Formats: sequence, structure tokens, C-alpha cells
Amino acid sequence: MTKDLNRREVLAAGTAAAGAALVGSSGAKARPVAAAIQRGGSKPTVIASGNGNIYKNGGDETCVERAFRMITEGADVLDAVIAGVNIVELDPEDTSVGFGGLPDADGVVTLDSCCMHGPKKRAGGVACLKGVRMPSLVAQKVADVTDHHLLVDEGAQRFARNMGFDIEDDLNTDRSRALWLEWKRRTDSRHYPRPEDRADAGRKVGLAMVAEGKIDPDHFYGTINCNGVNAEGDVCGVTTTSGLAWKIPGRVGDSPILGAGLYVDNAAGAAGSTGRGEANIYNLASYLIVEKLREGLSPKDAGMAALNRIVDNTIDPRLLGEDGKPNFNVNFYVLDKSGAHAGVALYGGPRRTYAVCTENGAESLPIEGLLGDRS
Ligand code: GLY
Repeated sequence: MTKDLNRREVLAAGTAAAGAALVGSSGAKARPVAAAIQRGGSKPTVIASGNGNIYKNGGDETCVERAFRMITEGADVLDAVIAGVNIVELDPEDTSVGFGGLPDADGVVTLDSCCMHGPKKRAGGVACLKGVRMPSLVAQKVADVTDHHLLVDEGAQRFARNMGFDIEDDLNTDRSRALWLEWKRRTDSRHYPRPEDRADAGRKVGLAMVAEGKIDPDHFYGTINCNGVNAEGDVCGVTTTSGLAWKIPGRVGDSPILGAGLYVDNAAGAAGSTGRGEANIYNLASYLIVEKLREGLSPKDAGMAALNRIVDNTIDPRLLGEDGKPNFNVNFYVLDKSGAHAGVALYGGPRRTYAVCTENGAESLPIEGLLGDRS
């Protein structure tokens, strides 16, 4: 957290802003954005993973509400979507992102994030960053003040310190620590019983804890992605995460990798992802989706094209169910330059939604599954 942007100020900003906003997750009357909407050919729109319309960190706005309000007030689109995800990064209730994110196998919270600014053609990311609650802001600094696109681990932390961010010893909350302790208790105390079995054993224990309702299924590989477009057609996006719960220390997922967990091209649109990051890194799926948008596919068809690619490339029996289909999920949030959008996944289902905010207010819309529904 920067010294000039601490948690209290973020809350206060959100609360004050919410007083002025006329949009709400309740579907309240839209604020007067008609002028902004009519200026260009694009319809101002913000989309995010489902948590983008759930968590408020004690304030009045969700991620998509804040980002949409800021965009229609004229803010830079990247500043707006990052301000949106900051709410979720700071909220201790979301155990998939930022403060209180589920830690790695050693109990250390490590965070990944990247962001892309469509019109400026700038991008920045941080991976395996420890001690900074809002890694998306550090990713934005990487884009703005360095010649690089990705900083990792200690170097990323040193960079953050030099940029004025507060570095904390531990980003665990009581809840994330208790869940880690339970996972640790259930796995071999030496943790690497047989190297070839370790990843699978840890994953099975984690999935059992999901099945028991101890962990939100969306928080096991949890993440937030948020993408926005303004009336001028400026497209920006950000993805931020604590990554896979109880990962091998040093594991980096798709979220900070340009083209994997996020891709933005101002000429076409934006795509970002939550779910099994390894599938996105292997297939560079967000990049593929944006290329499909460029070819003229709709957001839904572009997302489905990437999901089909993932299915085709998933042949390891360990990753297949008895029906021969992937035994994991990947979600995509796709926004084209006009403001059209879609949420798609390998598996949909009644509780799988993505967040959208337009002049109609914030909504949670169903995610469509390529392979049908699965709980
Ligand atoms: N998609 C988040 C991760 O795999 O780290």
C-alpha cells in the first residue's frame, strides 16, 4: 500500500464516491452518463469475475460499480479498473486476492498481478510479491516508471518499497492462516512425501476442503480480473490474485503473465481469466481470445475458441475426469471495444456468474459453460 494511499483512505474515497454515485448493485437508477455514452462509438462497460460484484470491504461500492463510476466521471480506464480491484484486494473476506489471500505451502501469502493500458500500449506485472496488499498498484508502477513488464519476488518487493509502498511482514488473516494450518495438518508433515505424488496429494486435500464448504470453490484458484471500456473506446484491464491455494513456494500462475491471465489490445478488446492458471500459461489463452476478437468473433465465440484450445491440449490423464474431460475449470471475462461482453468457462452452473456494470447498474450474469454445468 502506498504511503499516500492507505486502507482508511481507500475506504473513505470509496464511501465519499459512493455518495455521489447513482449506480448500485441493487440496480438503482443509473447516474446521468448519457453524455459520456454518446460521445464515442463505445458503450462504457466494466466486467469482472464474480467477486467483482460481491466484496465491498466495508464500503458502499463493489469493484465494477467503482470502476464504472470513475470511467463515466472521466477517469483513466486503467486507474478505474485498478481502483475497483483494490476494494477486493483489501477485503479480508476474499481469500483469493491480496490481503487475506490463501498462502503458499509454507504459509506465506505471495501475490501476482498484471495490468494493461490499451491506448498507451503499456503493461506491467509483478509475480510472487510478498508484503504488499495491493499488487495491482505495483504492477501499474512497473508499467509507468520502468522499461520492463515483469518484476518478481524480492526484486518486486524492493521496487515496491522504493516506490513508497508499505511492506508488511505477513498478509495472512486469522482465517487464511487457520485454513492453511488445517491443510498442513491434513497433508504429510514433511510435506513432500513422494515428490511425484505431492502436487496431487495437496490438490486432493484442497479440493476436499472445498467440497466440505471450508473454502469457496472460486477461491482455490481464486483471482479477480476486471476490464473496462469508456465512451472513446479506450480499453484497459487488470488481474490480481494470491494464486493457487497452498502452491509450491515460488509457483507463479497466469495472472501476472501478459497473454495468459490478461490481454488487452485497444483495437479489439480485453480478456482476462480466473481458474487453473497453468492451462492459461500453456495456451496463452487471453491473447488468443483478443486475437479472435480482432478477427471479428463475438466475445462469447472468442472465449469458446480459447476453451476449445484448452480442451484439445489437455491430454495428461491426471487432468482428465472419468468422462475424459478436463477435471478443472477456467473462466474467461471478455469485453470488446464496443462494450459487448461475455463470461464463459469450461463448466458453468447456477452459482457461476460474472460481474458487469453499465448505465443499467451492476449485475451478476451467468457464465456459459463449453462443457455444460458442473458444481
Ligand atoms: N488463475 C490464478 C492462478 O492460477 O494463479
